[in-house]
Amino acid sequence: MTVTQIWIMDDGPDITRAAAELVASLSREPVMARGRFNFALSGGGTPVPLYRLLGSPAYALALPWERTHFFWCDERCVPPDHAESSYGQARATLLQPIDAAASHVHRIRGELDPTAAAVDYTTTLRLHADEGLPWPQIDLAILGLGADGHTASLFPQTTLEPEDPNVPARAVTGDYDNRPSQRVTLMPTVFRTARHLVFLVTGANKADALAATLEGPHDPARWPAQRLQPEGGTVTWIVDRAAGARLQAIRRGAPTTSPLRGA
Ligand code: 6PG
Repeated sequence: MTVTQIWIMDDGPDITRAAAELVASLSREPVMARGRFNFALSGGGTPVPLYRLLGSPAYALALPWERTHFFWCDERCVPPDHAESSYGQARATLLQPIDAAASHVHRIRGELDPTAAAVDYTTTLRLHADEGLPWPQIDLAILGLGADGHTASLFPQTTLEPEDPNVPARAVTGDYDNRPSQRVTLMPTVFRTARHLVFLVTGANKADALAATLEGPHDPARWPAQRLQPEGGTVTWIVDRAAGARLQAIRRGAPTTSPLRGA
């Protein structure tokens, strides 16, 4: 079973603060239990203020940075210093400010062709596997939602079937918002073994996709985020009012703090 909670926030700064506090609180238990915090990042514009806040002095002592291992939910196949590189974005906003140890930064090598990069990342994930799994158990993944419903680089109607439960990363061809279309993505099988997923969703252009994903019929080929249900884990959606405007729970005037719905 997966616990789902939805937090509706007034604006971007509220989302950033709430997400940063959640990251800090979720980072402690894994370090106590296993000595490290496996933190998976996404690209896109929405998480940038979060990365900047986490990289600021205010959070220097709030997180166990020396015990944090960074992974990526997906990557665009561009070199690391390209403006569209998700790793490059995280490096500038978070990894450099906190002086993350290179040995803890496990990036997807977007400079390779997508198939080679997916194979390379599968090897990386195996090298850092947790006991009983062929990949690291992700303690927390930050995810976004596209207006078309994609998350990570799991695009609607993309042929990813059959999903091989032993293959954690795949090359995909996406076509979204004029962004580079060659990508590598973690597969749902990895997210299903995660402890906590946090989706950050803002803007009226995502209201339909958010409502369909959370409250529409089960149709994961159309709404890929429906596939990301960690077994025994939690999914927290932190969304602004514009993105949440079409959620039934909000229209009924339900409380605007978590949880609005359990699944
Ligand atoms: C990416 C991510 C993608 C992203 C969504 C939302 O690197 O772009 O793979 O899944 O999270 O497209 O992007 P925005 O935050 O820019 O809206």
